[in-house]
Amino acid sequence: MNVKKDLLNALAEAEGDYISGAALAERIGVSRNAVWKAVKSLQAEGYSIDSVTAKGYRLASDNNRLSAEVISAGITAKTLGGKIIVLDEVDSTNNYAKKLVSQGALHGTTVIADRQTGGKGRLGRTFSSPPETGLYMSVIVRPECDAETAAMITTAAAVAAAESVELLCGHRTDIKWVNDLYINGRKICGILTEASMSMETMSMDYAVIGIGINVRSVKDIFDAELLKRASSIEDETGVIPDRNRLCAGIVNRLERVLGELESREFLAEYRRREILTGHTVTATVGNEVITAEAIGIDDNANLIVRTSDGTERHLGSGEANLCRISE
Ligand code: BTN
Repeated sequence: MNVKKDLLNALAEAEGDYISGAALAERIGVSRNAVWKAVKSLQAEGYSIDSVTAKGYRLASDNNRLSAEVISAGITAKTLGGKIIVLDEVDSTNNYAKKLVSQGALHGTTVIADRQTGGKGRLGRTFSSPPETGLYMSVIVRPECDAETAAMITTAAAVAAAESVELLCGHRTDIKWVNDLYINGRKICGILTEASMSMETMSMDYAVIGIGINVRSVKDIFDAELLKRASSIEDETGVIPDRNRLCAGIVNRLERVLGELESREFLAEYRRREILTGHTVTATVGNEVITAEAIGIDDNANLIVRTSDGTERHLGSGEANLCRISE
């Protein structure tokens, strides 16, 4: 028996309501004194737990400690999040997840870190990942699908993340093609999916979906250069979502959108949130920089643009980099 784990589980399931020491003791099968000791120990580890006479204990709304137990309590997905691994520090949750894949990790295994020392962004960039600030998570998936469908995984993940952020902060959360999340026109989240294809069957072996969300204020952490491009949920909305709940919400929604890869159902929500459409954009396509009107997203999540001579082009994420609204 692990009293601290059982206690965290019980507090998480109560979703912010108080539970009396007696009820906790009975549920876990230990004395009230053992419950009290476990609460003290968890508080010393950084968990924020409210304790009120005659009411009992609850996980405080400002708790900022990541916990596999608390995340698991929020997971309703059947096929994802069966194994949750929380690390204090890692180079990159994507790298860690890929190592787990090589050891046979199951579909849905999810790795979360409080801090990344070598967080990776798209196009070989770094992703700044300071402690106690963001949600850095990687989900291992092994969907049975062809290469074209697999290419939609990141797009689907953007929808799952946007819906989850919006639900918890109460502010409209946009998607900038391909897979950045924006609030008030500022980037708060990026997604990096790393996948391996089987050349024999031309189907997907596995994908690691890496999602990085700046949750708490980054104003005093990021340098001026980075602050031009990046912000956080707190800086944009004043709301600080609980990272554990955010993580569970994303895993739950990820299960839904991954089930829609073939049907492309999730694209309707993607299109509703996408913000390049309707603007003149500048995109780097290979060695060429083009300026064109973004007119929509096609059924393979390519950006449809119309150049000044009226030609329509469908830009894939692989070929069109650094796409932004023209000034
Ligand atoms: C981007 O904005 O270019 C993509 C950023 C992706 C960052 C996440 S954080 C969790 C996972 N681990 C990484 O090293 N990168 C992704």
